[in-house]
Amino acid sequence: MALTIGVPREKLAGEKRVASVPEVVEKLIKLGFAVAVESGAGDAANCDDDSYRAAGAQIIDGAAALWAASDIVFKVGVPTSDEVGLLRQGGTLIGYVWPAQNPDLMQQLAGKKATVLAIDALPRQLSRAQKMDALTSQAGVAGYRAVIEAANAFGRFFNGQITAAGKVPPAKVFIAGAGVAGLAAIGTAASLGAIVRANDTRAEVADQVVSLGGEFVKVDYEEEGSGGGGYAKVMSEGFQAAQREMYVKQAREVDIIITTALIPGKPAPRLITAEMVQSMRPGSVIVDMAAERGGNCELTEPGKTVVKHGVTIVGYTDLNSRLAKQSSTLYATNLFRLMEELCKTKDGVVNVNMEDDAIRGLTVIKEGEVTWPAPPPKLPAAAPAKPAATAAPAAKKGGHGHGAPSEPMAAGTLATMFAVAAGLFWFVGANAPQAFLAHFTVFVLACFVGYMVVWNVTPALHTPLMSVTNAISSIICIGALVQIAPPLAGGAPPDTWIRWLAVGGIALTAVNMFGGFAVTQRMLDMFRK
Ligand code: NAI
Repeated sequence: MALTIGVPREKLAGEKRVASVPEVVEKLIKLGFAVAVESGAGDAANCDDDSYRAAGAQIIDGAAALWAASDIVFKVGVPTSDEVGLLRQGGTLIGYVWPAQNPDLMQQLAGKKATVLAIDALPRQLSRAQKMDALTSQAGVAGYRAVIEAANAFGRFFNGQITAAGKVPPAKVFIAGAGVAGLAAIGTAASLGAIVRANDTRAEVADQVVSLGGEFVKVDYEEEGSGGGGYAKVMSEGFQAAQREMYVKQAREVDIIITTALIPGKPAPRLITAEMVQSMRPGSVIVDMAAERGGNCELTEPGKTVVKHGVTIVGYTDLNSRLAKQSSTLYATNLFRLMEELCKTKDGVVNVNMEDDAIRGLTVIKEGEVTWPAPPPKLPAAAPAKPAATAAPAAKKGGHGHGAPSEPMAAGTLATMFAVAAGLFWFVGANAPQAFLAHFTVFVLACFVGYMVVWNVTPALHTPLMSVTNAISSIICIGALVQIAPPLAGGAPPDTWIRWLAVGGIALTAVNMFGGFAVTQRMLDMFRK
């Protein structure tokens, strides 16, 4: 029998998001589920009851009735103990849970014999899990909104302008921490025309910063900043001192600082001191996205906007609710993708498959039994270190052998391959006709050059490279041109049909050529700012 998904109204003050939106409700119904929505649940996210009704949902008045009617409950905010009280015995809950921070909640849910899928426990390193990654989708929206908040509090343009009334320099924006939120902020600020700089303790994100139009500011100190799983670690005293020096300099130069630095399970690192704030020009703006975790700036007041030393410091902790429709739509899509994984049969029945790494990671309680924390997922050898919110991976390192044990084997295999290839060349050289050998040599050299070119190009640039090779491959055109060219003195003119074939060849190859260059141009424009 098809299960009913319930979408209650969020209870937390200031939470404007809703766990599903009408566009997604339609898709859930196509997946075989029935959907019930608490009356008014989507009001703050511009989704009224009528739009849910039109999408096929049933509208239910009051939380108690909604929870009672739902086999599966979709939530955004961590459920309160009253809400858990309303959950059906043996029901399913999907949403944020943060099991490490909420042991009492976990106990209460286990007592209900519930099955709980914590969207925050998703193994983000699995590329297959990215479509369900609500932390990424929400941080992306928040990073965008942080820039919009900064623009709102800032008294000037972001882009430089030359007008009859005078010349306006572009705003300088510094982004501390280039995780998901930081990268979204870099892209947004750069697209508004600002000069954007960024820093992160993980050096591997430098390429991503540049590809989004920012400049990566290095700290003058060598230390590995990755703490595993694509997250940061607490840095040494020496590094922190060098980083402080860099921040002192940046604070004096830039107009806007957006801080997003975070280390999982730790309070946010203090990066901006009161003196640095004081050194900024009056009218400057700081948006501290880490406000909820203690703040990256010493003077931040969580949830508020304050002005200190003439600098506006925005400490909002509800950036997602400030873009409620967008955040809700992306969150709802993440949950829908999860339901697709849970209901492959498309008949509205859920199968929590604990053999599936992504589902295993999410499932923190299964039928009352606490299954958190999950064992680390089995990663493919070349899995990306971080969920890729952006196009350009740090790249280049992959493929050169990943660990000591595999290296001797790789060297052995390589030697055998060389030996076989050398034998083959000797055989061909000794037996093949002269004319074939000349072509064969060119062919082998072309393979070698092609391989070296592709190997040394960042994977993010492989598509433009392919399209430009496509364009160049249209050298076929020259052959056709030779065919239609007027005959040399004394030569016989080519047949008319050969000419027409050559014309057709040129026309077709032109599509390849101009198309190839056009696609390359468009692709490269994505990396240029
Ligand atoms: P993330 O973990 O993907 O990124 C944090 C980044 O900070 C990492 O790249 C890390 O390497 C970097 N970092 C850590 N220590 C650093 C240091 N000392 N200096 C420079 N960089 C450092 O986290 P995500 O998802 O990008 O979120 C960023 C922040 O935004 C978090 O604090 C999160 O809680 C907050 N957030 C706030 C919202 C709001 O409404 N205010 C909404 C969504 C996220």
